[in-house]
Amino acid sequence: KTKSRTTTLTGNGGELHQTAGKNHPELTTNQGVVIADDQNSLKASVRGPTLLEDFILREKITHFDHERIPERVVHARGTGAHGYFELTHSLEKYTTAKILTETGRQTPVFTRISTVAGGSGSVDTPRDVRGFAVKFYTSEGNWDLVGNNIPVFFIQDAIKFPDLVHAVKMEPDRGFPQAATAHDTFWDFISLTPEAMHMVMWIMSDRTLPRSLRMIEGFGVHSYRLINADGHASFVKFHWRPKAGLQSTIWDETVKIAGADPDFHRRDFFDAIAAGDFPEWELAVQLFTQEEADQFPFDHLDATKLIPEELVPLTFIGRMVLDRWPDNFFAETEQVAFCPSHIVPGIDFSNDPLLQGRLFSYLDTQLSRLGSANFHQIPVNAPRCPFANNQRDGHMQMTQATGRVAYEPNSLDKDAPREQAVKGFKSMAEPVAGDKGRIRPESFADHYSQARQFYASQNETEQAHIIAALIFELSKVEHPHISEAMVGHMLHINEELARRVAVGLGIKVLPVAPPVLVEVQDLPVSPALQLIGKM
Ligand code: HEM
Repeated sequence: KTKSRTTTLTGNGGELHQTAGKNHPELTTNQGVVIADDQNSLKASVRGPTLLEDFILREKITHFDHERIPERVVHARGTGAHGYFELTHSLEKYTTAKILTETGRQTPVFTRISTVAGGSGSVDTPRDVRGFAVKFYTSEGNWDLVGNNIPVFFIQDAIKFPDLVHAVKMEPDRGFPQAATAHDTFWDFISLTPEAMHMVMWIMSDRTLPRSLRMIEGFGVHSYRLINADGHASFVKFHWRPKAGLQSTIWDETVKIAGADPDFHRRDFFDAIAAGDFPEWELAVQLFTQEEADQFPFDHLDATKLIPEELVPLTFIGRMVLDRWPDNFFAETEQVAFCPSHIVPGIDFSNDPLLQGRLFSYLDTQLSRLGSANFHQIPVNAPRCPFANNQRDGHMQMTQATGRVAYEPNSLDKDAPREQAVKGFKSMAEPVAGDKGRIRPESFADHYSQARQFYASQNETEQAHIIAALIFELSKVEHPHISEAMVGHMLHINEELARRVAVGLGIKVLPVAPPVLVEVQDLPVSPALQLIGKM
């Protein structure tokens, strides 16, 4: 037998028992009953059956059986960290939100960076968009900026999101590929969704092969509104810029890394924080008015379009530093619930139809993912400012209701929470007129201008990487009509691109390009438009 102060092989079967004492508290059940033997279940005799009576065994196994919760329907694999945001430049002229006006104050944040398509156990390095979600625990309530590392999106209307995700996720009959875009259903959907062409150029670029999660940009994607003390609204787009610079791996490195270390990005993030080399980003905004937006050669409510910085320059307003790894991965990184509808007074939504759908989707999915209407009470989700209302009960209620009043108005409780008209959240009083219908603005039909612009902005090496990615991805597609349709779209983006991809795929005769419904003039823009943003 091994001799040690707290460890002895004392069991009848020679098993190891560690005894409580010194710094080791007593092991108990969830009801606080001290456990004498955690190695053996209760048996009818030394070689007899296990007894149903064994409440210690049943409690332990039952809890274990329910350890897993549903993973996120998208963005299931992620890495998160705590930190702070510090405002360096006040936007007082544009908003009343304290998080954007009080310079110098450090506001706590929790940030989660994720892949989109793979499950929670998938590898860190597929060719995929990275989610970039930040929860600011502001003094006026939680503000979640739920973005991606690409400034545009695949689709213009939220009603297409389930189709997009069903096309990109593993195919339902075979259960693969688990985290890759190189398969028929993805390219089939994309080839029939020309609005995705701009985003496709970005995802085929090295942007989707980050060198480190510390080296990606983040974008709020949609326009939001800022409302100032006079009630005037401006539009705003949010951008995160990594202090470590934007860096990518090349495809061959990515593939090797995926094999050598599926946790490559998570480990890098963990190691960097442990070493005090804290991931850091600058926050910048693009600000513009409705009148200025009316002059854009595209609609800023169309999430497949970005606003070029030549048109509306960036204003840098603050920095975010992530300096603390969560104490518990499940409790924080898994249970954190970001939601684009979490905004604070002084910030408001735009009418982007993709954003409008997102405002519904996140809370809805989190009710089933986290299993209770009270998931906002989980510490990582709870606001860090005072909060009080008359909501009550429900699964997993953790707050203790006191008194007899849980409604308002009331005259019975002198301490009950009440409205505050001056500082409370108010939506912008936007006039709305027009015919109701399942409709889109005409300019949404310009699917190629910005795809062309993005491809043209890439240098020769970057363009070669995009071509190689398209050849690799489309070569995995079994149905030739899908790859041919993709080459047809490419003819509208760049003829040389289309030809080189066609050669790479062995397509002998170039397909006919699909019809173009709306052609918007290419940027660079007129000098008048370049004044925008200098408000
Ligand atoms: C999750 C970004 C579009 C539904 C996420 C996450 C990010 C994100 C970053 C992960 C959050 C986390 O770390 O927990 C975006 C961006 C979009 C977009 C930037 C477009 C610009 C949409 C749309 C829908 C949607 C259109 C639905 C209509 C969801 C859902 C989740 C999610 C259901 C899982 C949330 C959870 O389980 O907590 N999205 N998304 N997303 N997104 Fe989106």
